[in-house]
Amino acid sequence: MKIGVFDSGLGGLVITRAFIEALPEYDYVYYGDTANLPYGDKTSGQILAHTLDAVKYLVQKKCALIIIACNTATSVSLRYIQQRFMPQYAPDVKVLGVVIPTVEEAADAVSKVGVIATNATIRSHIYREELHKIKPDLQIQEIAAPELVPALESNNFADAEKYAEEYTSRFTNIEALILGCTHYPLLKDCFRQLVKKNVRVISQDEFMGKKLKDYLERHWEIDITLSRRAEYRFFVSEVNDHYQKVAAGLFPGIGIERRE
Ligand code: DGL
Repeated sequence: MKIGVFDSGLGGLVITRAFIEALPEYDYVYYGDTANLPYGDKTSGQILAHTLDAVKYLVQKKCALIIIACNTATSVSLRYIQQRFMPQYAPDVKVLGVVIPTVEEAADAVSKVGVIATNATIRSHIYREELHKIKPDLQIQEIAAPELVPALESNNFADAEKYAEEYTSRFTNIEALILGCTHYPLLKDCFRQLVKKNVRVISQDEFMGKKLKDYLERHWEIDITLSRRAEYRFFVSEVNDHYQKVAAGLFPGIGIERRE
């Protein structure tokens, strides 16, 4: 059985690389729903439908552990999938998201946190809710950045940087900034230059690998079901040149396949 990773597009590849760097011996199946992105501007119903489809696909690909490496899909659908869908559909398969590990990383030693994410993630207020569970008096400023994912997906880094600057300037007196979208690590250096020196930029590619490792150490009952042949497969719902190039840069020699 394998580890499945799902995102709407490019962002999840960055997170998959973090997993593979931390745990290279496992077998991974990645699925990017490039035909339907951006998820951030869709309704909750649409996001749930696409996420359920992706989870079913990864179950069919023999994944025993599925990580929804998309903040938008996690925000809208993880609870439903964990509590209602999986117990009926595939009770032995575990599905995890990216919000809780990020919140654990951010809540320490700060009193005001900024969150930048897609429209749907901000609308869900999941970061605010989960941060307040850990630290009820934390001040949280949330900003939706709908233009960033489309700019990154169309390889328009110049525009993406301009938008990042505009959005970052709206945060006031934050001590940490959560990049609450798996696409934003592609812009993390830019965000680090834009924020004041004392602001910690929390980028999911920098700790998700360690979080997965910790999880598997604690959940040996899942770990023992996972195969270790270091086989990595990457599927997308629609192949495009930019995607192929980014993937080849992150995983030299590995091709992207169209979902069958
Ligand atoms: N990468 C996804 C996330 O983490 C969203 C991208 C999209 O809008 O499709 O939120």
